Amino acid sequence: MHTIVLATQKGGSGKSTLAIGLALAAKNAGHNVRLIETDPQGTLSNWQSRRGTAEPMVEAIYNVGRIETRLEQLDCGGVTLTIIDTASGVSAITASAIRCADLCLIPSRPTITDIESSAATLKAVRAWRKPFAFVLNQTPVRGRRMDNATQTLGGDDARAMSEMIARPFISMRNDHQDALASGLAVSEYAPGGKSAEEIAQLWRWTEARLNGGAFELDARSEASSPARPEAGTSQAAQPAPAQPPPGRLDGLAPWDACL
Ligand SMILES: Nc1ncnc2c1ncn2[C@@H]1O[C@H](COP(=O)(O)OP(=O)(O)O)[C@@H](O)[C@H]1O
Ligand SMILES: [Mg+2]
Repeated sequence: MHTIVLATQKGGSGKSTLAIGLALAAKNAGHNVRLIETDPQGTLSNWQSRRGTAEPMVEAIYNVGRIETRLEQLDCGGVTLTIIDTASGVSAITASAIRCADLCLIPSRPTITDIESSAATLKAVRAWRKPFAFVLNQTPVRGRRMDNATQTLGGDDARAMSEMIARPFISMRNDHQDALASGLAVSEYAPGGKSAEEIAQLWRWTEARLNGGAFELDARSEASSPARPEAGTSQAAQPAPAQPPPGRLDGLAPWDACL
C-alpha cells in the first residue's frame, strides 16, 4: 500500500479538493482507495455525507497515535492507496501523517505568498526525509504567472523542477467547486471535462513518482516538458524512524534557503 499525504500551512490551497480528485482518479485506475481525514474542519466527511455510500470511504482520525496502526490495518485489508487530508498548519497529527507517508503533496496557489507559506510544511517533510512535490493549484487558465511560480520554486535547476513540481498544474475551474458541492469528484461530475483530465494526469504523475518511474505528460494538457522523477525515490519499503533523522534531504530552492 502507498500512502500519500496532502499537507500545507495555508488554508484554501486545495488539500481536500485534490485529495478527493486524486482518490477517484486512482480508483478509476483500479486502486482500492481509502481517504483519511485528520482535519476537524471535516471537509471530507461532509463531502461523504452528501455523497452517500459510494466509495471511496472516508475515515476520520483525530488521534495522533491511531494513524500508524490504522495504516497497517488498511494495508493488511487489501487497500492499495491511502490518501490523508490534513488541516492547515503542521499539527502533531499532520506530523504523524507525514512520518507515515510515501509521498507528500504540497498544494499551493501560484503566488509568492502561498509558496513562501509552505516553508514550515516543507521543513517537517524534509526532517523525515520524505519524497515530496508541490502541486500548483488554482492556476490561471491563461497567462504567464506560472513561469514566475515555477521559477520561485525550482529556480533554473531543471532536475529540481521536474521532481519538486507535480504536473500538470491544476487550473482554477468551477467544476472543482461544483463537484464537491454535489458529493462527487471532478471525474464523476464532468468526466469529459478539462479538470477531470488534469486530475487524471496528476494521478498518473503521482503514481509514477511513487513507483520511481517516468511520466510522459499528455501534450494536450500542458505545453511544458514532462516531469521525469528519478528512479528509486519511493520510500514505500522503509519503516518510518521514531525521530526525524538529522541533516537535509536535498538541495535548497532559492526561496527556502533560510530553513
Ligand atoms: N482548482 C480549483 N479550481 C477552483 N476551485 C478550487 C480549486 N481547488 C480548490 N478549489 C476551491 O477552493 C476552496 C478551498 O479548497 P480546499 O480543498 O477546501 O482547500 P484546503 O483543504 O487546502 O483548505 C474550495 O472552495 C474549493 O472548492
Ligand atoms: Mg481542507
